[in-house]
Amino acid sequence: MKASIMVLPGDGIGPEVTSKAIAVLEKIASKYGHEFTFNEALMGGIAIDKFGTALPDETLRLGEQSDAILLGAVGGPKWDNPTAPVRPEQGLLKIRKHFGLFANLRPVKTYPALIEYTPLRPEMLEGVDMLFIRELTGGIYFGPRQEAGDGDSSYDTMLYTRPEIERVAHVAFRAAQGRRKKLTSVDKANVLAVMRLWRKTVVEVHEDYADVALEHLLVDAMTMHLLTRPSSFDVVVAGNMFGDIITDEASVLSGSLGMLPSASLASERFGLYEPIHGSAPDIAGQGKANPTGTILSTAMLLRYSLDLETEAQAIEQAVENVLAEGARTADIAHGGSFISTDEFAQAILNQI
Ligand code: IPM
Ligand code: MG
Repeated sequence: MKASIMVLPGDGIGPEVTSKAIAVLEKIASKYGHEFTFNEALMGGIAIDKFGTALPDETLRLGEQSDAILLGAVGGPKWDNPTAPVRPEQGLLKIRKHFGLFANLRPVKTYPALIEYTPLRPEMLEGVDMLFIRELTGGIYFGPRQEAGDGDSSYDTMLYTRPEIERVAHVAFRAAQGRRKKLTSVDKANVLAVMRLWRKTVVEVHEDYADVALEHLLVDAMTMHLLTRPSSFDVVVAGNMFGDIITDEASVLSGSLGMLPSASLASERFGLYEPIHGSAPDIAGQGKANPTGTILSTAMLLRYSLDLETEAQAIEQAVENVLAEGARTADIAHGGSFISTDEFAQAILNQI
């Protein structure tokens, strides 16, 4: 198969981890007889410095000609001022909207090798394996808003239409069918009108998926249940802002932020793939970054955008093996010995 992938290294450790992910994809290409081309473009602080905007049009055009996008991370202290008119995260929001990346998949599982380093008791984490599906192009992130300017009031609006809820619900139910057939929908239907529409629509979509068990949880209760019964969750679907918050909470269950991948999907296979960690400017350029989240994101890229399931699993298996062998990057070494980003990536390449 031929595929062209736009790579957005971004800021901080972004370039280090994306270069390792490319090496993994190249290895997969040579082993399984594919031809992948990689085209780098700018987004984030680096784009602000060069072009005065977090997401130049040139990057969007290149993305339109690609089969998928691989992103490192954006942001850093240099561009941190939340009131600055141009900020790195604007690039993220704009690219999500531009490519219609409405379904954000964030798998969270606990690796047996890391279980003792999570903040919960090990026995609570056995069997934790969840897939969060966060709606990514609607809700309060994109509803009508007003900045205070010189005035005294500001607002953001949590707005969802029925079709927006339906399409993400279909993604979630289909994902549940391919897993343990359980879906938890997170809302705040006791208070918010928009969340009553959310719940009603999810219940309607459920009619097409009789084999999936559906549970509704209010978002405040969800934050508790995530810590008291994490292994009971299979697929979890939530709106944009609640999904943002609960996926950060869930990420600590894995042992390290550096481990977790994500996919942001549009309707036709196109997607953007990135680790869930940030740009970690404090460790940039020191060989301390954990490339696993980005490498596992390439597995998601192969699975969802290129339909290469065998190749995706080869990467996931390689990561499991390397961890089982005891290889650790600094973030998951917990005082023990660790190897560099390069060495860790090389160990994964060797396994493939
Ligand atoms: C995320 C991040 C972004 C979000 C920020 C950086 C805009 O927190 O991808 O979860 O809120 O969506
Ligand atoms: Mg977030």
